[in-house]
Amino acid sequence: QQATKIKIREAVANRGRRVKVSGWVHRLRTQGKDMKFAILRDGSGYLQCVLTGKLCHTYDALTLSLESTITIYGVISELPQGKTAPDNHELSADYWEVIHKAPGGDDAFTNKLNAEADPSVLYEQRHLVIRGESSSSVLRVRSQIMKAFREYFDSKGFTEVNPPCLVQTQVEGGGTLFDLNYYGEKAYLSQSSQLYLETCLPSLGDVYSCSESYRAERSHTRRHLSEYSHLEAEMAFITFDELLNTIEELVCHTVDRVLSHEPTRDLVYQLVPDFKPPQRPFMRLDYKDAIKYLKEHDIKKEDGTFYEFGEDIPEAPERAMTDKIGCPIFLCRFPVEIKSFYMKRCSKDPRVTESVDMLMPGVGEIVGGSMRISDLDELLAGYKREGINPAPYYWYTDQRKYGTTEHGGFGLGVERFIAWMLHRDTVKECCLYPRFMGRCLP
Ligand code: 4AD
Ligand code: MG
Repeated sequence: QQATKIKIREAVANRGRRVKVSGWVHRLRTQGKDMKFAILRDGSGYLQCVLTGKLCHTYDALTLSLESTITIYGVISELPQGKTAPDNHELSADYWEVIHKAPGGDDAFTNKLNAEADPSVLYEQRHLVIRGESSSSVLRVRSQIMKAFREYFDSKGFTEVNPPCLVQTQVEGGGTLFDLNYYGEKAYLSQSSQLYLETCLPSLGDVYSCSESYRAERSHTRRHLSEYSHLEAEMAFITFDELLNTIEELVCHTVDRVLSHEPTRDLVYQLVPDFKPPQRPFMRLDYKDAIKYLKEHDIKKEDGTFYEFGEDIPEAPERAMTDKIGCPIFLCRFPVEIKSFYMKRCSKDPRVTESVDMLMPGVGEIVGGSMRISDLDELLAGYKREGINPAPYYWYTDQRKYGTTEHGGFGLGVERFIAWMLHRDTVKECCLYPRFMGRCLP
């Protein structure tokens, strides 16, 4: 019988047929002299293959090692009750061949990833770690999350744009800029596409982008990367409330979509058996009430004093509060002094801005957004307050001269979103090759 070449994800649909499958030896078990079970992995799924009799007696069979690449021919059948294999199906081999044999002995795959080793080994060997079940599941769910984000914006009529990553202006403060030599001029890696998105409003209307953003973070935390995927959106003629509603809708739509795609839903529940989608509406909490909350719940600074109005709430107390509350929070209206130059002040209380951080249990801040200054003089005062030379921002300033309007937007840290949704310990597990202080390889 001719063999049909298939991907493992098509195995169940090809039950009863003779097929040809190629992949990597993910697991291997020998039972007696005459039986070998190999779990084959081809990136589309896992398939249990049984080699019996003569097929296990060859030199290749006796020396087969994990992560070798092989091709197997045989018929796929459903397993009887009580036996377990991925998807409860098994390929019974009638022929197989080695494409490439991975080393055994000291250089064997498993020896490269000693689980008790220093976690830095896992980053150094990330190219091998991503072959593992949980790492590849996270990357697979990530791909669906990205699709769902785009689908949301597309359904609302946003246009996706691709702003530059090589820039000569900062957005979120000079302290975390990576600078570089740009043909003899000073330039930076982009911290945020926001200012460019704002320039698109009069041209394209509502816009979004998903670019890498760069932050020279000089500390090791569970939620900071030097390079991260930044989903950003900007909208004209909106109010602060409409901005909050959009963020809420984006988050809930994305979770819904990911869970309605069957193979991805299974991965989510394998990673987080008790995952619960967030409930709308998200809690709205003003910064000034958060300061009160910290006092009432005895959450203090390291020196034993309380946080006072006007002070930044750092990661640890923010997390303590978010984990205690245990649901998504829109933390709103931060003081002008601790926020960026472009943020609009509240008309009711000019000490604070129309700004928001979305906080999620387990991670803390996942989204930062605000209404933007729409008045030219207010913007010029903002540059001044932050000690920014307005000259290289002429193109941004022009937005306030040629048809200004109320507008606002936000940025969502993709790795933080994934760390929240998939309950990962660190954002470093939520991207392909994490970049953080001390690591730029592989
Ligand atoms: O709060 P941030 O700094 O806000 C901005 O950059 C705005 N200009 C975005 C906008 O309004 N268009 O960053 C936005 C989000 C944060 O909430 C966080 O999720 C993520 O980006 N983020 C980081 N993620 C990983 N590693 C880092 N070092 C991050 N810094 C920010
Ligand atoms: Mg922020």
